[in-house]
Amino acid sequence: MQTITGTDINKSAELLNSGSLVAIPTETVYGLAANALNQDAVLKIFETKGRPTFNPLIVHVHDANEFLKYAVEVPELVTKLAQSFSPGPITFVLPKKNNIPDIVTGGGDTVALRVPDHPLTLKLLAQLDFPLAAPSANPFGYISPVDARHVKDQLGGKIPYILDGGQCMIGIESTVVTVLSGKVVVYRLGGVSLEDLKDVVGDVELRIHGDANPVSPGQLKSHYAPTIPLKLGRMKDLLIEFASKKVACLTFSQNYFEENIIAESILSPGRDLHIAARNLFTALRKLDNSNAELILAERFPEYGLGLAINDRLERAAAEN
Ligand code: TXA
Ligand code: MG
Repeated sequence: MQTITGTDINKSAELLNSGSLVAIPTETVYGLAANALNQDAVLKIFETKGRPTFNPLIVHVHDANEFLKYAVEVPELVTKLAQSFSPGPITFVLPKKNNIPDIVTGGGDTVALRVPDHPLTLKLLAQLDFPLAAPSANPFGYISPVDARHVKDQLGGKIPYILDGGQCMIGIESTVVTVLSGKVVVYRLGGVSLEDLKDVVGDVELRIHGDANPVSPGQLKSHYAPTIPLKLGRMKDLLIEFASKKVACLTFSQNYFEENIIAESILSPGRDLHIAARNLFTALRKLDNSNAELILAERFPEYGLGLAINDRLERAAAEN
């Protein structure tokens, strides 16, 4: 199959209408989209990604007012969060209606809904009469794509069209939340920070540590992983421990000068966590394509988007 990259919304809509897949830009990462109401189309997502079907997908809609088309109820706290952060990097897990096929939800009775904040994809959604199921557009377990080029590198030949919306401005996936017993529960850290959530709804509960049978499969321990082993810690300590290896370094703001460093990425010299998040996955790809034996990554500050960055780095460091 030939993969075309372009900015043609009509063509994207046509392909999606006919049950094909299209890679779509969002503010977080690129998604691999299909008509969420068409079981056969959604099945192609799992085949193309090599993703296990127990792992449920996010359903993207044009407007938070559409949540009630696909969810049985929308708790007050979700409405409040949606008013503050949608369109934007937040996903709501809600009790599903029967119009959402089981293949989308891994057979479960909840559906994850999100309004992406990207002009091309919002235009596309406005033109469709169905929502879009879309996981990140990467092979299962690998680093998420934040540029049309990344999608092409990995899914080229497997999908007909990549809607090119440039570089993703947030750069890490959405924050996944639900409401349980009147409380906001966070399943995955992401583009909306805990501090921002707390400003709107007060206290929140974290349930982000996965095991073999996670509630939310983004909690799988090894994920977002480069092919070269990645070690996470204090850079000074790591450089001592791995002094005999050829290494690639991922740091927040600082340069290091050891002779065994053969590649490096500094995510934000000005120490801005939003910029660091935006640069994270591109940097990991670059370092993964170096000839290093190991990637050494520095642990980020434990606040704001630093928490989501550390979460991704921990999963990248986890062994399969
Ligand atoms: O930013 C994003 O969320 C991107 C863009 C494309 O929207 N999408 C994305 O999709 O990251 P994916 O499939 O890579 O991650 C979806 C996350 C997973 O952690 C999944 O387990 C969780 O959402 N999820 C989906 N449906 C769920 C459900 N019903 N209950 C709990 N977690 C769910
Ligand atoms: Mg993903």
